[in-house]
Amino acid sequence: MEQKFVKETRCIKISRVFPPDVNNHNTMFGGKLMSQIDDIASISASKLCRVTAVTASTDSVDFLRPIRPTDSVSLESFVTWTGKTSMEVFVKVITENLRTGKRDIAATSFLTFVGLDETNMPVPVPRVIPETEEEKKLYETASHRSEMRRTRREASKKFADFLLTKYPWE
Ligand SMILES: CC(C)(COP(=O)(O)OP(=O)(O)OC[C@H]1O[C@@H](n2cnc3c(N)ncnc32)[C@H](O)[C@@H]1OP(=O)(O)O)[C@@H](O)C(=O)NCCC(=O)NCCS
Repeated sequence: MEQKFVKETRCIKISRVFPPDVNNHNTMFGGKLMSQIDDIASISASKLCRVTAVTASTDSVDFLRPIRPTDSVSLESFVTWTGKTSMEVFVKVITENLRTGKRDIAATSFLTFVGLDETNMPVPVPRVIPETEEEKKLYETASHRSEMRRTRREASKKFADFLLTKYPWE
């Protein structure tokens, strides 16, 4: 089985917060950040598997503090762990107050991507080798998160079976 270092999947994107990015409180709109998180995470997954990578799930996006127009926003993503065909990607959002230089973790997220072949069937993906303390910690704790996802997925499927597909006016 092919292996790659976690660092080979690392992506960084740093940007400003512009007026179209903010909500009524003049802080960054959550949906905008979620879109950027999915975007960068998909690149990390693709750098690992080099086939089509689709988002299977997002565990959560924890908005730990507001992001303001005076901040720069840095998104860092990397593949932390792989199953057989799935890849767990971690995204860390760091803000830097451009006046004071103070940095904070503004948000974190775990996403799962699945590698697909030309017929859209899941295919085995390379394993990852963690090197830094942070990478090792995330790698060691990943199988527990994967198990929780499996349980949640079963519950989601049962929930979807119970829901109606009729529109309200029908
Ligand atoms: C994700 C998808 C490819 C999985 O297909 P599937 O036929 O259910 O595949 P499997 O049950 O064999 O699962 C394949 C792998 O995905 C993982 N997986 C599937 N659904 C998952 C979920 N919701 N969360 C986390 N992992 C998931 C499985 O655990 C398995 O991992 P492993 O091979 O490492 O053990 C399929 O559900 C899909 O195409 N979903 C839509 C994806 C999409 O359009 N994303 C964009 C959102 S707009």
